[in-house]
Order: sequence, then structure tokens, then C-alpha cells
Amino acid sequence: MRTIDWVDGAVEIIDQTALPAELRVVRLATVPELVAAIRSLAVRGAPALGVAGAFGVALAARSFAGDPDALAAAVREVSTARPTAVNLARGARRAAGKLAEGADAVLAEAYAVRDEEIAASRAMATRGADLMASLCGSRVRLLTHCNTGGLAAVVLGTALGVVREMHERGALASVVASETRPLLQGARLTSWELSRWGIEHRVAVDSAGPFLMARGEVDAVILGADRICANGDVINKIGTYAHALGARRAGLPFVVVAPESTVDEQTPDGASVPIEDRGAAEVTAWAQAANPAFDVTPYDLVTAIVTDRRVIRLDRGEKP
Ligand code: MRU
Repeated sequence: MRTIDWVDGAVEIIDQTALPAELRVVRLATVPELVAAIRSLAVRGAPALGVAGAFGVALAARSFAGDPDALAAAVREVSTARPTAVNLARGARRAAGKLAEGADAVLAEAYAVRDEEIAASRAMATRGADLMASLCGSRVRLLTHCNTGGLAAVVLGTALGVVREMHERGALASVVASETRPLLQGARLTSWELSRWGIEHRVAVDSAGPFLMARGEVDAVILGADRICANGDVINKIGTYAHALGARRAGLPFVVVAPESTVDEQTPDGASVPIEDRGAAEVTAWAQAANPAFDVTPYDLVTAIVTDRRVIRLDRGEKP
């Protein structure tokens, strides 16, 4: 089942705000509906956002064919619906590059973005499982953060695709999914996907991760990215940096799995990336709150980045 697709002239998504209680498919027929779904995280995760961006422009091309100003505004709305994952603006820009050729050409480009993400997920799963075998051997105990499964892509996912491949190879011993406050992508979504795939796992509160590593209950950390900068800094869900520090302290590999569509060579380092602030309401209704949705993990804490085309060994001085 695909997380996002184009079906009979509209975008269909699995509504990730309803999981795990309900597997609900929602149909998005207009640009405002799609933008609202992106903002509410009904569709989320960097690769899925890239596909949403491209399909969003396809919706705009159909809705505003005779009105260039409205079309440009709609494309802008889609591209900027969330700021941090580079895939969203990149997917929208790719589809928008075909606007002069008409709505069918835009849709064809959006299909290409979708199909490339599907292929990338498959390539990362194999390459990542090979790397994990070389770093950690067999029967590996992994910790992962946020949700990087099929729900965050179109199918299979990034880091969780590697986890699934390791499971199928018999190389996986166990998984800890950190719960991922405040929206619980780990507790709600990763746990749901691992259960569906028949992979045993435990959910831990985010702050338990470094302690589990220190106590010897984890062999490696594997997770995804929303943007990878030219120097190798990794932007990912808030809490990633703390896990990287825990892994370094415990001497464990810290592996990032992301498609090439997430590598942003135009952005020199993490300090240049807009970190989404999602406001206080998601954290608490009764006090002031800071709610940055992503953080920056410095490149020198990362062992390797696995993409669909290469393994970049940051621990050996390689750069994206
Ligand atoms: O706010 P979200 O849920 O969109 O954040 C998602 C993440 O941080 C993921 O780890 C990242 O996009 C990689 S998804 C394969």
C-alpha cells in the first residue's frame, strides 16, 4: 500500500494523524487541502513530502490553467508549506519546471518523482543492510528515531527500509523505537509499521535512548534525515542530536539513511537551515513552550550516510 499517490485526478494519502487507531485514506482534490495535510503532518517524512510537493503542483496546474498569478501563488504555497525538509520545495520545483508544457507534463514529472523515491527506497535498503553487516556483524540491536518507514516515503522507507531488509536477512536481533515527542511518530507510526512487518520492538521515551546505549542494550543507531548539508551536517527530527551524542559516548555507529533527494549541496551547513518551529500548542496548552521540530547533528558525530547511490563515510573524512 502506498502512503501517497495520484488516483483519478486527485492525491490520495494515508492520514498519519489517524494512526495507529485507524488506517484512513484521505482524498485531496485541491491545493488548499493538500497544503493543510502537509501542515498537519497527515502526510509527512522527507521523501513523501517531495512527492506531495510534486503532486501539489500537478493539482495547481489543473486548477489554475488560465490564471498565471493564481498558479504561481499556489505553487509557492505548496513549496513553502513546511520549511525544513529540502524534498518538499525540490519536488515542487521539479514539477513546476514542466508548467510551460501543460498539466499532463507536470503530472508526468510528479509520477517520475514518485517512482524515483520508490526506487531509492529499494536501493537504500540493500546498501544500508550491507553497511550495517560490515559495521555491526549479525543479530544487531538497533535504535531508531521518528518514523522513516513506508509512511515517510511512498513504500518501504529509508532507515526503516534498512531495518526491514536486515530482518529479512536474519541479521536483526531487536529494535528500540524512540517515541519522538511531541507528535509521537516513533510510538504511533514506527511501532505500527514494525508490527505490520512482524518485527519485534520496544518503544522507549526519547530521553532513555542514550542510557540504553550506555547500558549496552543497543549496537547501533539508524535513522533518517530531512536535509543533509554540504559539510555532512544532518537535519532530522528533534532528538536526533541527543541520540548522536549518546552513540558517540557509547562508541556506537550512528548511521543516517536518506535518498539523494535529501542531500542539499546548496546549503553549506546546519546553521543555514530553517528549523521549523511548530508552536506551543503541540507541547502544552498551559505554559510557554519552545517547540523546534528538527535539530542539527554535526557531521563529526555521524559514522556514515547511506543514499540510493553511495555510502559516504564521514568517519573517514568523506563529504556529500
Ligand atoms: O516532522 P516529520 O514527521 O515530517 O519529520 C520526519 C523526520 O524527521 C524523518 O526522520 C525524516 O523526514 C526522514 S523520513 C524517511
